[in-house]
Amino acid sequence: MDKPEFLVCMHTIDNFWFACTRLTKKQTGDVKRNEFQGISPEKGQVYTNNNNNTHADAAATATATATDVPSSGKIVTPNLKMFTLQELKQTTKNFRPDSMLGEGGFGRVFKGWVDEKTYGPSKAGTGIAVAVKKSNPDSPQGLEEWQAEVKFLGKFSHPNLVKLIGYCWEDKQFLLVYEYMQKGSLENHLFRRGAEPLPWNIRLKIAIDAAKGLTFLHSSEKSVIYRDFKASNILLDREYNAKLSDFGLAKFGPINGNSHITTRVMGTYGYAAPEYIATGHLYVKSDVYGFGVVLLEMLTGLRALDQDRPTGEVNLVEWAVASLENKKRLKKIMDPRLNNKYPMEAAIQAAMIIKQCLQSVPKNRPSMDKILETLEQVNAIQENPKKKSRSTKTKPNNTQKQQQDHHHRSPLHYKHNGTREARPGHY
Ligand SMILES: Nc1ncnc2c1ncn2[C@@H]1O[C@H](COP(=O)(O)OP(=O)(O)OP(=O)(O)O)[C@@H](O)[C@H]1O
Ligand SMILES: [Mg+2]
Repeated sequence: MDKPEFLVCMHTIDNFWFACTRLTKKQTGDVKRNEFQGISPEKGQVYTNNNNNTHADAAATATATATDVPSSGKIVTPNLKMFTLQELKQTTKNFRPDSMLGEGGFGRVFKGWVDEKTYGPSKAGTGIAVAVKKSNPDSPQGLEEWQAEVKFLGKFSHPNLVKLIGYCWEDKQFLLVYEYMQKGSLENHLFRRGAEPLPWNIRLKIAIDAAKGLTFLHSSEKSVIYRDFKASNILLDREYNAKLSDFGLAKFGPINGNSHITTRVMGTYGYAAPEYIATGHLYVKSDVYGFGVVLLEMLTGLRALDQDRPTGEVNLVEWAVASLENKKRLKKIMDPRLNNKYPMEAAIQAAMIIKQCLQSVPKNRPSMDKILETLEQVNAIQENPKKKSRSTKTKPNNTQKQQQDHHHRSPLHYKHNGTREARPGHY
């Protein structure tokens, strides 16, 4: 990471955020605690809790505004461990910089070690590895996102959602402790300089796993809209099993026959659906749009947004959408790091899925379970062995070449503006 450029980027966004907060919409989509209960979607699990001390109770006591945040708090839950700050300091060697895994809008993420039974701190390399996410001090976003994360991940359990082990709220700091995902984020694998290219079958597996995670959320009784589907929120374990992380922006979906909920426009520019940016109307199908963008990133190896690309190519969707329906054009935008090693028929079908996901009218986008079904069919398409041996190295097109040269200056850092406010009007 080239530090000075990063700082310039943050500065730009801070200015922008101040300009656009005035455009945000009033949030009206919250639901009450008992609407969490009695959900039993396939495979996943929803914890219910009938005693009085639930996550949502804590959220209720902590509807504190940024100026009125209690310095510490407690959430009684059978599913999550409440860590002390001291324990988490021990776990991460006092949040030592060399144990940092990454940084996002909420704060920094550190690797630590805990005992596998008690989850008490353990020596590095013993017990199980965890990822500890620590809020930026005084971040007005911190408490809200922290509550939402605990609220959702404390309730939902599914193989394609990252496991939340526990949390800590002390000294005005909010921390979250997750299972450690050995292979980091999809974003790093697709775009980090020097990253080993992901082969086609792994990309498809990741897409299928992520689709399973979204299907689970959407099909729960009170559907959950994830709202922040993007490559950095898809984490990979040792076997490239993909799990969704970051539920800080998740919302319960429409109820009483309504088609959408209305919320303040939040999310990440480049992935957020156009109707949501324009109106604040959030549909279950808004997640489907984000899914299409990530699938397009996986096919092309290009970021959803990159200000370093030539004008007209900055926004991947705008630039690539016309190539999705034409085999010749599609070939040209496929990630050269795939080295032509993919079944063309599978790429064509994946491109069709993307095209449908990116429909501007939400109801014209397919449902996640339909997408999952189609992706599994795509996965069954094997490369023609004759063609496999003939595959040659493709020359990167200009855009792809440029991204490889400059991806460290990626505008994806736009999302790290402390608020993750989407940018209305840019579409
Ligand atoms: N459970 C985890 N295991 C391993 N690495 C993780 C884990 N959680 C996060 N990380 C690493 O930390 C990075 C930062 O994560 P974080 O979710 O805070 O930010 P982000 O997703 O990059 O941005 P945003 O705040 O907009 O979501 C991730 O990209 C990933 O590399
Ligand atoms: Mg994230």
